[in-house]
This record gives sequence, C-alpha cells and structure tokens, in this order.
Amino acid sequence: VILFHVFASFVQFCSCQNGNNGFSRNDFPTDFVFGSGSSAYQVEGAANEDGRTPSVWDTFTHAGKMADKSTGDITTDQYHRYKEDVQLMVDTGLEAYRFSISWPRLIPNARGPVNPKGLEYYNNLINELISHGIQAHVTLFHYDLPQPLEDEYGGWLSRKIVKDFTTYAEICFKEFGDRVSTWTTINEPNVFVLGAYDLGFLPPQRCSSPFGFINCTSGNSTIEPYLVAHNCMLAHASVARLYKNKYQAKQHGLIGINLFAYGFSPVTNSVEDVAATQRASDFYMGWFAAPLVFGDYPEIMKRNVGSRLPSFTPYEAKLVKGSSDFFGLNHYASFSVKNNPESLKIQQRDISMDMAAQFISNWSSKGKVLPDEFPVMPSGLQRVLEYFKQDYGNPPIYIHENGQRLLAAPHEKSVNDTSRVNYLKGYVGGVLDALRNGSNTKGYFTWCFIDSFELLDGYTSNFGLYYVDLVNDPDLKRYPKLSAHWYSNFLKGGHKRN
Ligand code: NOJ
Repeated sequence: VILFHVFASFVQFCSCQNGNNGFSRNDFPTDFVFGSGSSAYQVEGAANEDGRTPSVWDTFTHAGKMADKSTGDITTDQYHRYKEDVQLMVDTGLEAYRFSISWPRLIPNARGPVNPKGLEYYNNLINELISHGIQAHVTLFHYDLPQPLEDEYGGWLSRKIVKDFTTYAEICFKEFGDRVSTWTTINEPNVFVLGAYDLGFLPPQRCSSPFGFINCTSGNSTIEPYLVAHNCMLAHASVARLYKNKYQAKQHGLIGINLFAYGFSPVTNSVEDVAATQRASDFYMGWFAAPLVFGDYPEIMKRNVGSRLPSFTPYEAKLVKGSSDFFGLNHYASFSVKNNPESLKIQQRDISMDMAAQFISNWSSKGKVLPDEFPVMPSGLQRVLEYFKQDYGNPPIYIHENGQRLLAAPHEKSVNDTSRVNYLKGYVGGVLDALRNGSNTKGYFTWCFIDSFELLDGYTSNFGLYYVDLVNDPDLKRYPKLSAHWYSNFLKGGHKRN
C-alpha cells in the first residue's frame, strides 16, 4: 500500500509539474532566502584542537558506535577551511548559510570562561559570510551536548539544563548577535527525544524500547522522551525570552525552534485513518508546535499519554507560548498512515512511538534502516506546510533542511547526482506552489552544503552539493556536484522551465 501511495504521488507530481509553467528564483519574493546548511560536529573537525572539549557525540563515536566506526574528528575540516568553503558558497550564489555553534568549542566543559580560539573561529566564519553578503542562520544546539553536563546531571533529562543552556546562549547573543539573521535554539528536538531516549540510535542512547535499534535497557522509553521534550521546550523558551527581552530590538534577528517534519497522509479516506493521520502530525510536530503557539500540548497527546506527559504550570505556559518567531522545518520524506488499533496496547506506549516503529520497519523490511533514495514527493512537504497553516495560524516557516541522501560512491558517480537534482527541483517547485497557496514560508535551505559526517551513516552516505572523499583524500578537495550547478543556476536566475 505504501509503495503504491509513493508511486501514485510521484505520478501526480510529474503531471503537476508539466502542467504549470516552471519556475525561477524570480518567482519567489525577494526577501525569501535560499541557502544551505551544516552542523558543527558534522563539518568542523579539529575535534581536539584549540581548547575544544568532548561532546556526547565524541564519546559516542569514540566508543565505536557508528556502523562504519567513523568519527567527526576531522570530517570536512571546515574549522580550517571555512574561507575556502565560504568562497564556494559565493560561487554557488548562496544567500544564507545555516550552521551550528559547538558549545564545547566556545565554552570548554560547558561552563566558565569563553575559549578565545572558539570565539575567534565563529567570529571569523560569520564575518567571512557577512562580507560576502551571505546571511548567518545559527543553531545553538545541534545534538552535541558537552559531555560534562551528561555526566553531571544527565543532560537534557534534568531541568538544570535550562540554566546552563541559557547562559551559553547569552554568550552567543552578546558575541555574535549583531550579525546573525536567525537563531534556532534546538535542532529537531522531536528526533532527538525519540532517537536518544526511545529508539536508541543517538547519544546518550537511553531507552527501554522493544522497537529500539539497539538492545538497550538503560532508560525508560515510556517517560523519558516526554520529560526531555518538556525540558527542551523550557530551555528554548528561556533562551528565546532572553533574546526577545534584551537583544532583539538592537540586533534585529529572529529566534525560533526547528522540527523534523514528516508529510503524513491517510492510506484511505476512512474516518479512522484520517484521525490517525492527524494524530501522527500532532504527536510528531504538534508536540512542540502546540505549546509554542497555544501554551499547551495537543489534546490528543494529553488524552493518550495521560500522566506520563508533563504539564506546564501557568507561568511556564506563558513563557513558552509565543516564544518562537518562526518554525524551522526539516523535511525529507512522507508516509501513509493507517490506523493501528493495537498501538495503545503495546506496553502502554503511545501512538507516536508505535508508529515510529512501524515506519522504520517499512524500510527495514527490505533489510535497510533508510531507503537508498528518498522518493520525490513535494506533495508531502506541502501537506506539512498546510498543517502549520491550518492548525497553527500560518506562522513564518524556514525549510531548514531538505535534501537527497545517496550512498557513498566513487568520484564520477558522486558528482553526477542527477537524482539529487530531481529531488531539489521537485521540492523547490513544491515550496513555490505552497507559497502560492498562502503558506508563510520565508526560506529554503538544502541539506547539506558539503558531504560530511552523517549522523546515522558516518561516511557511507552523503547529502552534499559538494563532493569530498572524506575517507581517502588527505587533501579533502571539494568538487561541485551536478546539484551544486543546478542550485547555482537556479539562484542566479536560470532554469526557467518552458
Ligand atoms: C537531520 C539533522 O539535523 C542532520 O544533522 C542530519 O545530517 C540530516 N537530518 C540528515 O540525516
């Protein structure tokens, strides 16, 4: 059924694109921003240099947890090559670069004095971008928690994270805020809580889930994801309120949160499947969107999760509500949803956990955790944007990540990434259609700019516009792929189809 659905959407997509007049950069508003992105641990390298201390990702990779045994110790070495990379961004015509700050590089061991070398690096990177007219879109937390906070109080499981995260964020606002266009507090907290506290594939790998990727018993999958999500929300709100009260008027940036966004559609039009689809969206995205827009969790979550779901005190609700100027959305794939009457019976697990397991088994039934290539289904992204429009009052949206994962391949094959070109073409066109349907989307970022350390796959897959042989090439030379050429032509005004 799922394969059929994917196929049907693809057919629909093709005829839709042939039926309209194509698109170019000029069809988008001038203040709409096009960029590409990265995250610190995935691109910086220099893991043991200039005073940087370990994050939970260093611990994880050095314990040999990646299937290919890789680490981010060197990866693309952007720490030393940022000038070259910014020049490539200029050549490509990027209008913005999304990157994250490594907390343990800026503040070794998480608290205490700022590391002058860390400060210098991010100042240099931001200045290099700005001097070329490229906006800086900065993420404060992209999974790489300083290890000492994990050891000391269990990291995001503890409310103590709110204070430490806010202190770190304020240093970032003070030091860099005059040149930053948007701040994202937390990258994909919805993936983080499931990956790190339920399914066990992300550090700190706490879970008790029978559906886990690993056999793990260290945590409690029925409670911890909700607790961590709650702490993420409080930490986000604390940081965002600080920015809004003290820095925003002077610095003119925006602050928001980022969510992983699946497109969900019902397998059939039955009342049950339609309700399950709404549930899926509410559990995955509404979990965070509803508190940030309305000050409380979605009703369906409160009903199904019961007392395991923390509640907001009136003070917290006020703090959280309205604290996101925008939602950053990371979109890669879509799913058909079928009602599963059994889901609530499985070890008291709620529907989101259960459905996550179902999706993964759809893919892994072919012996794979992820498909070799994500299908091109812009209608799925449009459904996500429609969900935010209908259910959350059409807030400003940045598509913060969208891109095609391809398996690592030799040079020739890697640079000829036609399927990534088709993917990007399809989704950029889909965003334009969504804008024309009234979506409040403000920007689009490909994931990612350059081949890098991939969180699930190490160096066995890639998403970049630029190819680097991260395993065999000691020079780490960058080569544009077809997708870089396509994006560049699009950004520079070409590719008006028909
Ligand atoms: C989500 C994450 O934000 C990013 O770090 C990761 O590389 C991509 N998606 C692709 O899996």
